[in-house]
Amino acid sequence: MLVAIDGPVGAGKSTVARAVAQRLGFTYLDTGAMYRCVALAAIDDESADRVRPVAELQIDFAGDAVMLDHADVTAAIRTPEVSQRASQVATDVAVREALVERQRKLTARGDWVAEGRDIGTVVRPDAELKVFLTASDEERAARRAAQTGRPVAEELADLRERDERDRTREASPLRRADDAVEVDTTGLPFDAVVERIAALVEEAR
Ligand code: C5P
Repeated sequence: MLVAIDGPVGAGKSTVARAVAQRLGFTYLDTGAMYRCVALAAIDDESADRVRPVAELQIDFAGDAVMLDHADVTAAIRTPEVSQRASQVATDVAVREALVERQRKLTARGDWVAEGRDIGTVVRPDAELKVFLTASDEERAARRAAQTGRPVAEELADLRERDERDRTREASPLRRADDAVEVDTTGLPFDAVVERIAALVEEAR
């Protein structure tokens, strides 16, 4: 079974998807981390004399850790610079095709909760359950600020810029799949969101 969770920046996708996966005994897939790895490699490559194609990048998940070419990049891929760069590399059709293919292969067997922007629309339109997770801009910015320690206004500007790029790009823009259930998490406690999605999974089984 595959549960697809898509939505804009800071809607709580990662924490919710991780918790739902743990509760159901499914494997969690953070597709944003894959775009972030491509972005980190691109930033690192700027000092080198050529840019490496995505096919050469070794991206692995080891529990909660993200590995790029066997180095632990779990923290390095979370900087604001990598976040912005990730949403830029994510507009590249070749990058998307390569990562989507890997995501399809990874999720072909077993039970998954996969989270990103295009899981229900492009990666796995056959997902048994599709959730589109949203929250108000202000709440999303406040949540991120609490995690990062940056000012709310900076987080707000940052997420609006990334959302705009994700929604207006030509290749697989961020949008709710027609058959996705929209869950607005504004003002909802985290446990209630997990509860609601777990209930939706039970219904879809
Ligand atoms: O989810 P996260 O914020 O880690 O994703 C980083 C960036 O990667 C997003 O801003 C988006 O541009 C891109 N992304 C994507 N498709 C996905 C997952 C992430 O385009 N499935």
